[in-house]
Amino acid sequence: MNLFVTGGAGFIGSNFVRYMVKQYPNYKIVNYDLLTYAGNLENLRDIENSPNYTFVKGNIGNQELVDFIVKEHKIDVIVNFAAESHVDRSISEPDVFVKTNMLGTQVLLDVARENKITKYVQISTDEVYGSLGETGYFTEETPISPNSPYSASKAAGDLMVKAYHETYGLNVNITRCSNNYGPYHFPEKLIPLMVTNAIEGKELPIYGDGKNIRDWLHVEDHCSAIDLVVHKGEPGEVYNIGGHNERTNNEIVHLIVEKLGVSKDLIKYVEDRLGHDRRYAIDPTKIMTQLGWKPKYTFDTGIVETIQWYLDNKTWWKNIKSGDYKHYYEEQYGVN
Ligand code: NAD
Ligand code: DAU
Repeated sequence: MNLFVTGGAGFIGSNFVRYMVKQYPNYKIVNYDLLTYAGNLENLRDIENSPNYTFVKGNIGNQELVDFIVKEHKIDVIVNFAAESHVDRSISEPDVFVKTNMLGTQVLLDVARENKITKYVQISTDEVYGSLGETGYFTEETPISPNSPYSASKAAGDLMVKAYHETYGLNVNITRCSNNYGPYHFPEKLIPLMVTNAIEGKELPIYGDGKNIRDWLHVEDHCSAIDLVVHKGEPGEVYNIGGHNERTNNEIVHLIVEKLGVSKDLIKYVEDRLGHDRRYAIDPTKIMTQLGWKPKYTFDTGIVETIQWYLDNKTWWKNIKSGDYKHYYEEQYGVN
């Protein structure tokens, strides 16, 4: 199989590229990524010389280049991770989210259709379903009801994917996963921000009352689920991915404080995120029963391994935190 992975230099994409390069030595894996602030080839240093791996720098919105690469590498399957992924950034600059997450997806779909790609997999998010109350779960039948510019742009991309299936008969799947954690997670997101700030003795900023709930899944378990969808997903189907691991943000931050043995006084409650979704929780019954997926990690082991990864890879995140990200951090949190 010749696989075109877009956004493969980001957090989940790089974990997926590594997983596939190791799992399928006979496949050709082409990683196509614009290397925005979130893309980092350091994430892939250990596999960059593998004979079954190629990197191409480019924008998913560049139809001519995408078409050329797809033809040149005789691509069979496209897996689209490329996106603007951070909710806070979507609140301050929504336009780039629409360009990449919606219009970029449409470009990929056109190239897929014109080149008679055998399968197109869209990596989406549980955030397209909106927010839950205290009970209940997102199923694949839950109506799409996004609340942030990020989730609205992802929902728009998903609807375009569905439309290309219904209208042109393109073989598509959409996956909607809950919050991921693990190695190479960009330190603007909750878990890596709190872990790295705690290691540096900096404040740990919790939005609002900290009682918002997210459903956490180890990134490798997300990768194994996508592998199953690539190989066994039924045409046109949506698959929700999650491991039934709901935690409040307060619980997450207190756990990190405890594991790193730092003072609770570092915790600071700050102004809430605008339109902050209260609770996400995935019902993964469909992918578990129909495709036989099962997560490998428990949160208890996954979070300890992840904290250790950040302790062992300080150069990786210190390079990020001292670069352009520093300006974003100072503006977002009003500190340095
Ligand atoms: P990320 O921000 O870490 O990585 C995104 C990658 O896409 C980067 O490498 C970036 O350079 C690249 N990119 C951005 N715009 C591009 C463009 N126009 N053309 C080509 N490449 C471009 O994101 P992530 O957390 O790894 O998320 C990957 C995907 O998974 C996204 O589609 C996101 O919506 C989805 N998702 C993320 C989570 C999560 O918890 N992080 C959960 C569910 C779904
Ligand atoms: O649910 C899947 C989604 O998970 C993905 O689609 C997104 O790409 C990904 O970024 C993530 O979105 P969240 O908004 O849930 O993740 P984030 O890490 O930004 O925030 C997690 C929770 O922590 C959320 O309730 C906001 C809160 N938070 C976040 C930051 C960065 C804080 O309290 N303080 C912070 O400094």
